[in-house]
Amino acid sequence: MIIVCCSQKGGVGKTSLATSIAWELREQDTRVLIVDADPQGTAWQMAQCCKDAPETIHGDLLADPLKFRERTASYDCVCIDTPPTLFGDYQTNAISVADMVLIPMSHSAGDLWSAAGTIRVMLQAMNKRPKLKAGIVYNRKSPSTVLAKTWRDEQLSDCPLHVFPTEITYRVAWQEAMNKGMGVAQYAPKDKAASELKALLLDMLVHAGVLKGQAAVSKKEVANG
Ligand SMILES: Nc1ncnc2c1ncn2[C@@H]1O[C@H](COP(=O)(O)OP(=O)(O)O)[C@@H](O)[C@H]1O
Ligand SMILES: [Mg+2]
Repeated sequence: MIIVCCSQKGGVGKTSLATSIAWELREQDTRVLIVDADPQGTAWQMAQCCKDAPETIHGDLLADPLKFRERTASYDCVCIDTPPTLFGDYQTNAISVADMVLIPMSHSAGDLWSAAGTIRVMLQAMNKRPKLKAGIVYNRKSPSTVLAKTWRDEQLSDCPLHVFPTEITYRVAWQEAMNKGMGVAQYAPKDKAASELKALLLDMLVHAGVLKGQAAVSKKEVANG
């Protein structure tokens, strides 16, 4: 499966999700490759500062879909991080090879307005490739605010794309994990950030059609630690 994290907005959690999902999938004995298609190179830098990081390569290869397929053929899962642009080559090429696109967003109007463009691009891509799946990840949620409590119902209820049920709370473990170049569930396995990431992964596998009946049970297990 090729998972792409994209949004034209910066700072919403693309790199955090792409890397933490890769780390968590690898933990479950999945052969994972991280492709850093953002010229900022954050995912690649993360891999340089942690010797246990999953294999990470630059995204230039995406320009040649055939070479990309050859290079990634031996992996079960490829997690692609993309730059904060809408029509850049890296993002367009990544979406063209994706099976699943995650669009992280927080509870700000800026995120919502930026996401509208990304959602439009995704709907067009899904129109051309009906098997392509995509969804909004509600990330960086400040739990005890009125804004966070009302945002989903008020702003996301009529979203034309799937919105994953799991929400990712704003927790410092995410920043600490990035600083160490690690996935959040490996950096802080007992933190609630780890349970939320695992629950999101289950949501994603269900939405991708990879997991069915056992998802509800697994999610309960994750919630109970
Ligand atoms: N759920 C979260 N809670 C707290 N900080 C987060 C969370 N998700 C991401 N971050 C932090 O927000 C910043 C931007 O995240 P990043 O993944 O780099 O976004 P993007 O790749 O979209 O620019 C980073 O410092 C990251 O550690
Ligand atoms: Mg990034």
